[in-house]
Amino acid sequence: MPDFNQRIIAPSLLAADWTKLGQECRRTLDAGGDWLHLDVMDGHFVNNISYGANFVDHVRQSVPEAFLDTHLMIECPDQYLQGFIDARVNNISIHLEPAYDISDTLRRIRESGICAGLAINPATPLEKAEPFLDQIDLLLIMTVVPGFGGQAFMESETMPKVAAACQLRTSRGLSFHIEVDGGIDGKSAAIAARHGANVFVAGTSVFKADDMAAALTALRES
Ligand code: DX5
Ligand code: ZN
Repeated sequence: MPDFNQRIIAPSLLAADWTKLGQECRRTLDAGGDWLHLDVMDGHFVNNISYGANFVDHVRQSVPEAFLDTHLMIECPDQYLQGFIDARVNNISIHLEPAYDISDTLRRIRESGICAGLAINPATPLEKAEPFLDQIDLLLIMTVVPGFGGQAFMESETMPKVAAACQLRTSRGLSFHIEVDGGIDGKSAAIAARHGANVFVAGTSVFKADDMAAALTALRES
């Protein structure tokens, strides 16, 4: 059982300098990042296109030992799993909102030997995720509307869901990380941690900081 009191910091490479991708990955781990968060966007589920499995494979080659946390913001995640599995990611999170067989897709992710995550948008109630909570290793509660980095943390819409997920986990004897993603810096991380989150995705506050190590410390200790 993971220690949910220990914070895991997952810098999002969306905000990194891709002209030196390998160096950015290494710099992030050296500065104290725990996981690397990979935001895959298809221009359908969200209004932006980012990168796909080939990019993720380059990340894997540059940091063979890193825990790669993959966030699929795509319309048909069930059709695109294999490329990410082949890139040897450690977690794949799929969104609840599109129409496909969520339970079967979570099962396939786990059967491939990696962790399965389920992501919900700010407007999606936690109740919709409840049927799947015993199939996941991570619940990703979006704290912005997905699609872009650099947006503001949506505290009032999302923190009640973090608290409720934390309570459900205890009352049902389940074991999944609670991850927050979007607008996370030292201040919002502290708020989310107080509500029960233990994995913190941060793009802008890490990669645009003058001192990345200090930004990571702020996320961990705020
Ligand atoms: C938003 C992505 C996030 C994003 C976070 O659609 O899922 O992971 O990169 O970026 P910041 O930390 O800048 O809000
Ligand atoms: Zn993300």
